[in-house]
Amino acid sequence: MQVDFAFLDSGLGGLPYLSYLRDKAPFARCVYLADTKHFPYGEKTAGQIIACAEEAVRLVIKRWRPRAIVVACNTISVTALDVLRRRFPNTPFIGTVPAIKPAAFLSKIKKIGVLATNATIHHPYTQQLIDQFAHGCEVVFRADPELIDFIERRAFNASEAEKNTAIEPALNFFRSAGCDSIVLACTHFLNIADEIKAMAG
Ligand code: DGL
Repeated sequence: MQVDFAFLDSGLGGLPYLSYLRDKAPFARCVYLADTKHFPYGEKTAGQIIACAEEAVRLVIKRWRPRAIVVACNTISVTALDVLRRRFPNTPFIGTVPAIKPAAFLSKIKKIGVLATNATIHHPYTQQLIDQFAHGCEVVFRADPELIDFIERRAFNASEAEKNTAIEPALNFFRSAGCDSIVLACTHFLNIADEIKAMAG
């Protein structure tokens, strides 16, 4: 069987991307691979992330021969996109890297927050994005594996109050740091972006 697009994430982080594509291209044939066996990617070493992503991509290509693969995961994109493109040269990869550039553009006081996984925050690629696109900005980082785990396991059933409680520590952190824009640099957060926006004001 051949599909048009395969989506890859460690869990449900890529679902908002899949649903966006289905709005734009309702007839595209898609598969979605959530590598929950290896969740969370964000707490792994770069070598482990590359190995897991490579295994997942190999399986996807073998079973579904996608015309393109959307790496709907910031952690895999910053860590493994180059390697995947080299190892699978016949498959186009579309990555999702932290939205540092628009955040730097939107920030009035040039102080931006980056909410991500540990792996993304500590990867040199993220610093390269900052050097390239957020020159002159102060950047404050927060890794939040607890919030990511909450989203993966609970977000679809949780009440608004439970979601707000889970989001609050991150928002308090960025508020007290004085940031006026926050990059949701892990695709899991897109599943609760409305709640984050409403609370952040
Ligand atoms: N959704 C992934 C990302 O965008 C991370 C989740 C995980 O830690 O596995 O970085």
